[in-house]
Order: sequence, then structure tokens, then C-alpha cells
Amino acid sequence: MTGHTSIEPTGAGLSLHGVRKSFGSYTAVDDVTLDVLQGELLGLIGPNGAGKTTLFNIVTGFVRPDVGRVVFEGADVTRLKPDQRVRRGLVRTFQKSMVFPELSAEENIAMAARARQGSGYAWWRPAERAAEALAEGSRLLRAIGLERRGALPVGALSHGEQRMVDILVSLALRPRLLLMDEPTAGLTREETARVMDLVRAHDRSTTVVLIAHDLDVVFSLCERIAVLNLGALLAVGSPEEIRANPEVRTAYLGSHREH
Ligand SMILES: Nc1ncnc2c1ncn2[C@@H]1O[C@H](COP(=O)(O)OP(=O)(O)OP(=O)(O)O)[C@@H](O)[C@H]1O
Ligand SMILES: [Mg+2]
Repeated sequence: MTGHTSIEPTGAGLSLHGVRKSFGSYTAVDDVTLDVLQGELLGLIGPNGAGKTTLFNIVTGFVRPDVGRVVFEGADVTRLKPDQRVRRGLVRTFQKSMVFPELSAEENIAMAARARQGSGYAWWRPAERAAEALAEGSRLLRAIGLERRGALPVGALSHGEQRMVDILVSLALRPRLLLMDEPTAGLTREETARVMDLVRAHDRSTTVVLIAHDLDVVFSLCERIAVLNLGALLAVGSPEEIRANPEVRTAYLGSHREH
């Protein structure tokens, strides 16, 4: 590739270099520099309005940073459009459902699997490819215990089940980097546990960044945690380091129920 594409000698799946974004006079993301390692499960926490979703929007290309660079697997993607980033394997889950409610869970997941087959699509073997995609859908539905609901229209499922289908659709795309924005919001404890199991079983070729307000989820699941406060990165480290960090405790954990 040419121009803005540069190669970085790092094991980082994703690197943010001095990223800043203001809305009017308010700086929502303030000079964030962060490496997310290939294959890791990183938690992103911070109080409401800390800039977590804005940071995801910058990584996925929905928001252009005022300053700074986004480097994905060694290539500068700061100026790429969202769909160009998706094609590189950079996928997010949304707070609002993106599936087709009139189609079944199986069909939604199979469509994502087919979309991934993309340019490898062999027109002379359509039945085989369709069968592969459906088999993948069944496997994912079984993994989360939804196999008996898979044939129903997604619109007929409970809120929690619909959220799970969203996640399965994202996984069927086999992303290189999956950004999950509060995937367990609104789920029961039991549903949260099922989603956590699925994320924990995640394929090491997928890097995962997880935003969650439920600190039990983040601290039990994530290998490293990054803390945002007022748009700035307050700390990055292991769950133990984050728990012990006095600044984090003051800014965030102190105002939360600690376990
Ligand atoms: N498009 C926008 N225009 C104006 N202000 C925005 C826009 N997007 C976000 N903001 C502001 O930027 C700040 C950070 O918002 P953001 O949604 O990134 O926070 P968050 O950490 O995801 O919060 P929450 O935990 O509540 O989801 C907030 O003050 C928000 O009002
Ligand atoms: Mg948010």
C-alpha cells in the first residue's frame, strides 16, 4: 500500500497515538496513547461520559480524531472509512441491535458467516458454502445455549437473547479486533454469565476490547484494564495493578461498590 500506510515494529494489534477529540469546547478524548496487544482481552472502564464510546467510534472510523493516529496491525487506518476498517477485520458490537428482527438467529448468523466468506465465495459451490455458514451458526448458538431458539425470528426473542444474537453475529464475522460496548447491559446475571463464558472461550486470533460498567465482569474476565477519566487515560495494567492504583480508586472505584 501507499501514502499513509506505515509499518510499525510492534506486537500491538491496535495502537492509539496521541488521539484527541473535542465536541465544541468539550474534550471527550484527551491525548490517549494506548497499545492493545494482539490476541489479548482488554477491559476499558471509566465513569459515565469518560469517553469510552467516543474512543470506540474513533477506532472504528465513525468519528475522526482532531489529532493523533490509529494504527491497526501495523497500518495507519486513521483516514479509512468504517466499512474499509470492517474489511480489515475491525468489528464492533453496538449498544443497539443491528440484526434483522424478522429473520431467525440462525439466518442472521449464517448471513454474517457468508459475508465473511466474501471474496472467497465460490459461485459453483453455493450449497456447500451455505451449509458451512449454517453449521457455524448452529455451533455458535449451541455454545451460548440458544440452539432451541435459533429458528425463531430474532424479534420474538427476549431482550437478553437478542443481545446474545448480536454478539454471535459479530463473532461469525471472525474479526481480528472485536470492540464490545457494554455487551452485558440489560442482561440477567445468568445471561451475563453465558456471554462471559463465550467471550472467555474467545479465539486467540481475535483481539477483544470490552467496555463494561459491571466491574465484576471486567475484573474477572480481562487480562489488562485501561481506565479512562474525563477523556484521559488514567492507568493501564493488570486487574491487581488497577485495583491497587490510588488514582483509580479516587477517580472511579471509590464511587463504586467494591467487591
Ligand atoms: N457526537 C457528540 N456530540 C457532542 N458531544 C458528544 C458526542 N459524543 C459524545 N459526546 C460527549 O462526549 C463525552 C464522552 O461521551 P462517551 O459517550 O464517549 O462516554 P462514555 O464513557 O461512553 O459514557 P457511558 O459510560 O455513559 O456510555 C460526553 O460528555 C458526551 O456527552
Ligand atoms: Mg458509552
